[in-house]
Amino acid sequence: VSVIDRLRTASGGRVGRRWLLWRARRPYVREWGDLPLLVLPGVLDPVATKVGAWLAGVAAAHARPGERWVDMGCGTGIVGLALAEVGAVVTAIDIDPVCVRNARANAALLGRAVEAVESDLFSAFSGTGRRFDRVVYNVPFWPGPVADAAGNVLPFGRAMYAGADFEAIRTFVAAFPKFADEAWVVLSEFGGDFAGARAALGPAELVTRALVQGEWLSLFALTPRPR
Ligand SMILES: C[S@@+](CC[C@H](N)C(=O)[O-])C[C@H]1O[C@@H](n2cnc3c(N)ncnc32)[C@H](O)[C@@H]1O
Repeated sequence: VSVIDRLRTASGGRVGRRWLLWRARRPYVREWGDLPLLVLPGVLDPVATKVGAWLAGVAAAHARPGERWVDMGCGTGIVGLALAEVGAVVTAIDIDPVCVRNARANAALLGRAVEAVESDLFSAFSGTGRRFDRVVYNVPFWPGPVADAAGNVLPFGRAMYAGADFEAIRTFVAAFPKFADEAWVVLSEFGGDFAGARAALGPAELVTRALVQGEWLSLFALTPRPR
């Protein structure tokens, strides 16, 4: 199954294959409510895939002004942009430099204060003493390799694939306690292997679960110590 087919599935079949292929190669502006959101080539469209747009609304509804939030794996920056709008102090992180540029561009276009940093999880903050109140992550949750046999990262590979044994989830769960008091991770029950992804997350509390355009999405909270 190609990445494009998986993106189609993730969108509930609402978007066509040719449209996705065309879109994947060009920057475009996506309507996000009444706001424009720039989507650069190779960056996941958070409105078409639904998860990012839903997470942005949920996170912003819970955030308080002055709280220090990390938008991990920021992509277009949609979650951090929503958090900044309600007064949170936002650091957006992505391993993909195109995503970091995309988040910076959207922050500038919408006039929102977001610090955008290229980093493999929190590695750029190692040894800095920086800590955050909460990190929110629309984690890649499809089982499968990020790169092909020759080591080339697949299109949307880092955005969608967690590794054969959900390594992206396991690594994040192990890494976040040094840097944040709480982590919020969203998982979709649509396609992929929800049970496997949920197991990789380990002990976590359900914050909220919603049916979004035919797709069940669950947001889980993890704390470094059991409550
Ligand atoms: C499912 S996408 C979510 C994008 C965006 N937050 C949204 O909701 O539309 C996952 C994002 O995580 C990023 N990512 C994957 N592995 C990462 C890592 N080790 N460190 C930081 N970001 C990573 C990908 O580049 C991608 O942008």
